[in-house]
Amino acid sequence: MVRETWGTRVGFILAAVGSAVGLGNIWRFPFLTGESGGAAFLFVYLAFVVFIGLPVLIVEFVIGRRSNRNVIGAFKELDNPNWQFAGFVGALAGFIILSYYSVVGGWVIQYFVSSFTGAYAGDAAAYFGQAATGTNAIVAHAIFMGLVAGIVAFGVRDGLERAAKLMVPSIIALLVILAGYGATLSGSSEAYAYYLSPNLDTILSNLGSIAPAAAGQAFFTLSLGMGVMVTYASYISEDRSLLQDAGTIVVVDTSIAFLAGLVVFPFLFTQGVEPGAGGAGAVFISLAAAFSSLPAGGLIGAVFFFTLGIAALTSAFSILEVVVSYVIDTFDVERRNATLVLAVIIFAVGIPTAIDLTWLDVYDKFANNILLILGGLLMSLFIGWVYADQGVDELTKGGPSKGLATGWLWVVRVVIPVVLAYTLYLGATEYWAFLMETF
Ligand code: PFF
Repeated sequence: MVRETWGTRVGFILAAVGSAVGLGNIWRFPFLTGESGGAAFLFVYLAFVVFIGLPVLIVEFVIGRRSNRNVIGAFKELDNPNWQFAGFVGALAGFIILSYYSVVGGWVIQYFVSSFTGAYAGDAAAYFGQAATGTNAIVAHAIFMGLVAGIVAFGVRDGLERAAKLMVPSIIALLVILAGYGATLSGSSEAYAYYLSPNLDTILSNLGSIAPAAAGQAFFTLSLGMGVMVTYASYISEDRSLLQDAGTIVVVDTSIAFLAGLVVFPFLFTQGVEPGAGGAGAVFISLAAAFSSLPAGGLIGAVFFFTLGIAALTSAFSILEVVVSYVIDTFDVERRNATLVLAVIIFAVGIPTAIDLTWLDVYDKFANNILLILGGLLMSLFIGWVYADQGVDELTKGGPSKGLATGWLWVVRVVIPVVLAYTLYLGATEYWAFLMETF
């Protein structure tokens, strides 16, 4: 079978941005910033995005474009079959993340529909209870997974690229509209003060916990560690600057996360809701309550949840593509069959998280705190120490000078492994404590 490629450079960039922009930007980022000292946190986070996120993104691009293979097969193609386990770690992370990402996608679908019927307008917490778990959650999970598989089944150009070209500009336009509307709300000035004024004390006294949180978020938001970016780069058919593409993706992803904060906080502050910790559920409950208190809130809710839904979709299909790409490359089967079988299996794996929210935490922490970071660490070690010369060679094709590429290599060799190993250590310790507490 001839391997597929992107139709255009813009198509590739939009697809990668679509993967990056998701629940992580619209929900997780604003809360993390709010909790961790507002604008001061923004600077710590930006530093991690530039010094950790960007170099690892380039690592994945280099592996993908050099090999033209999926995240596991890539290492064999690059003459290091022993390193295939690095790809396995990533693909496993994808498997697990997609299984519950789709459950949360199912919540978004239910909230979108309920914006019209007014179902969450009464008791927002009770509504969340019956939407998030049980039959409703499982059915909505099936629908979301069906949409994801429907797009992936059409292939790289007709599925992923076309969907991204349509959806990513829509996400940006809708967020701008929502932020504009948010600015007119009574709580907006209080919201901006909370979000944008730096609180240095919070930062300095919590640096120990803020730094790993910022590193983890930088990783998650750029879809790193599980081979999405390897897979997407493997469909690039020409040599052009990977550094430029990666830079564009980082800037757009960060801007959208920032914009999302300008959307979320005015709604909450107008409601008098103090945005604190509270996990996946809290934001659904407080935002739903905020929407139902506003005139024409149903319409605003519908627009918000629609935006969140397509953002989740463009991330979810990038994850499914990682495993579909592996199965197609390895077993030479039809894309449609591979997609169908994998979607059914991942749907089944996600069912426990749609029955009991504890499982959602168990899955989420394992994949994010451990597997993603480990995947990124292994891929960086591979490029930094095993495949360094060829890596630099690949990066300079159509791209930056040899000097710049060598600078990148040293960051990948030394800085990234140290930071990621430490983050992994903290993540694993935290996960262990969480398991002990839960079971
Ligand atoms: N980047 C996505 C977000 O911010 O919501 C989530 C994600 C997608 C993480 C794909 C990892 C991944 F491979």
